[in-house]
Amino acid sequence: MSEQPDADATIEARLHEQDYFRPPAKFVGQANASDPDIYDEVGEFPDGFEQYAELLDWDERWDEVFDGSNPPFFEWFVGGKLNASYNCVDRHLDERKNQTALLWEGSDGEQENITYQDLHRRVNEMAAALRSQGVEEDDVVTVHLPMVPALPITMLACARIGAPHSVVFAGFSASALAERVDSADSDYVVTIDGYYRRGEFLDHIEKTDEALEEMDRDPQVLAWSRHEEPSDEVSDDYTDVESLLDEHERERVEPVSRDAEDPLFLMYTSGTTGKPKGCQHRTGGYLAYVAATSKNVLDIKPGDTYWCAADIGWITGHSYIVYGPLALGTTSVMYEDTPDHPHKGRIWEIAERYDVDIFHTSPTAVRMFMKWGPEYPEEYDFDFRHMTTVGEPIQPEAWLWYYKHIGDEDAVIVDTWWQTETGGHLITNLPALEDMKPGSAGKACPGIEPALVDDGGEKLEPASGKAGNLIIERPWPSMLQTVYGNDERFISTYWEDFSDTDSDDWTDWNYKAGDGAVQAQDGYWRILGRLDDVMNVAGHRLGTMELESAVAEVEKVAEAAVAAREDAEKGEVPDVYVVVREGVEETDAVKEEIVAAVEDEIGKFARPANVIFVDDLPKTRSGKIMRRLLENISNEQELGDTTTLRDPSVPEQIRDQMHGD
Ligand code: WT7
Repeated sequence: MSEQPDADATIEARLHEQDYFRPPAKFVGQANASDPDIYDEVGEFPDGFEQYAELLDWDERWDEVFDGSNPPFFEWFVGGKLNASYNCVDRHLDERKNQTALLWEGSDGEQENITYQDLHRRVNEMAAALRSQGVEEDDVVTVHLPMVPALPITMLACARIGAPHSVVFAGFSASALAERVDSADSDYVVTIDGYYRRGEFLDHIEKTDEALEEMDRDPQVLAWSRHEEPSDEVSDDYTDVESLLDEHERERVEPVSRDAEDPLFLMYTSGTTGKPKGCQHRTGGYLAYVAATSKNVLDIKPGDTYWCAADIGWITGHSYIVYGPLALGTTSVMYEDTPDHPHKGRIWEIAERYDVDIFHTSPTAVRMFMKWGPEYPEEYDFDFRHMTTVGEPIQPEAWLWYYKHIGDEDAVIVDTWWQTETGGHLITNLPALEDMKPGSAGKACPGIEPALVDDGGEKLEPASGKAGNLIIERPWPSMLQTVYGNDERFISTYWEDFSDTDSDDWTDWNYKAGDGAVQAQDGYWRILGRLDDVMNVAGHRLGTMELESAVAEVEKVAEAAVAAREDAEKGEVPDVYVVVREGVEETDAVKEEIVAAVEDEIGKFARPANVIFVDDLPKTRSGKIMRRLLENISNEQELGDTTTLRDPSVPEQIRDQMHGD
């Protein structure tokens, strides 16, 4: 870890503790979690988590809450059986079959109001359709769908028949899709002809076609149509979902009773090494934990209209658009297009139209709203009781703007820290029980025990105000089970560094989050960001290695390194430093080729901000690229220690080259 930025130095500049904001009395009076005893109750390890599992309907109750006998392969609610689709759909039919489950708003204002009864019918039909194509329990189904009702319906249909889904964000490229299909040994892909982006119809089938060429496997493809009519775009090799659904109209599929430990889904995420990791999530512990945090942190009640403006293709959407909110029987809003289409007031227009109570977004989005100005939200009449941020640290300035201009100084805000791997929130306030402090995620969630260690693994004093590596000392029900097909990578990525891996006592194992953090005297946690070679672009993790391998695909490139440049809107954006091969001219055309390579390999959302030609990259004597120095250069900061470089003059040369650009 010697090359990691010194966490202490990173923090200094930002440490300025903010004032507290009290939650409004009218919020506290109605909150789901209003008894401080919840911390002690749930903290009673491991039985405290039973109250989370009790939020669900089980076919068979568990025999054992937690089995830690084979660390770090922990098991939860062992012996229990349940079905996630049943819990999110069927069990609400008695009480609220005519209540809206999903409120979908399309790009051009088209609306779908899907009641729990409709959802039940559609999930059953899709489950029957999948089965008719041979999908069996435990087959991984790759789902490459945008923000249309087909996406949650397909996920719940998979869950119904016990087929783990692996949703690949629609913005990912054909190559990224191909890689994930292969990596997940998936024999089924569910796609769609297209969807709308800023009002334009995007051809999505083209991507599927390309991905099929690139992948090693030969999966069967099922294609939805964006407009209910079978689409001409779709090749004859694909099975048309709309016709299949007609064939299976009103069919019922018995929910498969799954072991609590059976996987519910895979979600790929970026890591430090080249290939994305398939985080595997279990059925029982995951669903229990996301239902409980939806209830206690997001304060969701069945009668609420709740809107998480994330994409279901990321973990946020899985846990807090689909599984958590629907397990609680609430109304969850989905929107297809971007926040500025067709005008910058679109989000607030939707909030007003559906009378949204709870609103959930990212700091990136808040910064964008802030840039657009308060006149857009001011035009609409909406009234949030509760607001969430997720994905990256929120600067106090953005927090205050959100609080004032969106929340009208009258809504609570929770800043939720968690990860694809953690399944649900780990650090954030229970909003009626703790005061808000801008820029801090807040306290640990009930039952969760974060701690900080230095690079040598020594634990820091609690609440010391010092920065360190964030670890979680105790297992929790929604933690990933493993990295799909790669237990070794699971251990080396998350456990090895700060655990005694020879021990079979689970208390010797600590989960490594990969983030730097500091705990202030009041016990509040402030997250500093990633300590590994992973950047956070608009709230999403991108591995610098992944980006670099995309760049290396360009033949003219001899060597490349990616550094995170701070960006007022997106948080971080990639800068690519490139050494070209002998004889290659450093032209704009080459730059464009590099940008295109990243877009092709990963997706347009990962587009580099700058491509910078250099003669050499800063390397240590052992030949490792020091990305930290490139980051300093990109962000116009002091270079710091360059003595470990093989050639200490390289960073200066790069600076000169940048200015000569
Ligand atoms: C990484 C996880 C959790 C769903 C969305 C992202 C950063 C996440 C916060 C927050 C500061 C945050 C961390 C984390 N992060 N939430 N509230 N404050 N940083 O999931 O793509 O798995 O990324 O996002 O660096 O490790 P993800």
